[in-house]
Amino acid sequence: MVHIYVVMKSNAAIGNILTRVSVRSFTDQPVVSDDIETILRAGLAASSARNMQPWHLIVITRRETLNAIADATPNAHMAKQAPLAIVVCGDLSKAASGWEQDFWIQDVSAVTENILLAAHALGLGAVWTGTYPSKERCNEMAMLMRTPAHIIPFATIVIGHAQSSPEVKDKWCAAAISYETFGNFSRQ
Ligand SMILES: Cc1cc2nc3c(=O)[nH]c(=O)nc-3n(C[C@H](O)[C@H](O)[C@H](O)COP(=O)(O)O)c2cc1C
Repeated sequence: MVHIYVVMKSNAAIGNILTRVSVRSFTDQPVVSDDIETILRAGLAASSARNMQPWHLIVITRRETLNAIADATPNAHMAKQAPLAIVVCGDLSKAASGWEQDFWIQDVSAVTENILLAAHALGLGAVWTGTYPSKERCNEMAMLMRTPAHIIPFATIVIGHAQSSPEVKDKWCAAAISYETFGNFSRQ
């Protein structure tokens, strides 16, 4: 279903979005530095409330650190096998104040999705592993990354060359969409 739609649209960017899938097993082939830079640039191109860009990225390629992430946060166990992880953090020193402060969460989410899409576009596999809002995971990652108090570890994206390609999930769901007002499912 997804593939038929992708072929119909024949648009590379749309095709990339519709065929992205979480990859959790990797070969030991490293990610070349040119690809790492492309991924980082895509991440930092994200949309950001009032363009505050309240984010910081930590790039991890050292095997001992990748293993330590997997041990400290078992939801990111696949880091043990992967050659690269990017820890997406919020930087509260760059965030807005007052009620707008929590926009940082949406801003770093946009960075995270951009990184997933860039990795996929480059033929790599990646998975978003959630850190924030788990206090325990945030504390573990803050200790490992030696972050100061204003830097909040938000997600660890584990990236590498896919060992196997999982099936793309067809998430199209007409019942999740209303037209004009909530609960009106027919588009006229
Ligand atoms: C906020 C968030 C947290 C996630 N945390 C984890 C995680 O800790 N470990 C994991 O393996 N996948 C994690 N995922 C990936 C989801 O499980 C995955 O996106 C979902 O099952 C849909 O599959 P797909 O990405 O292949 O479409 C997370 C995704 C999001 C958006």
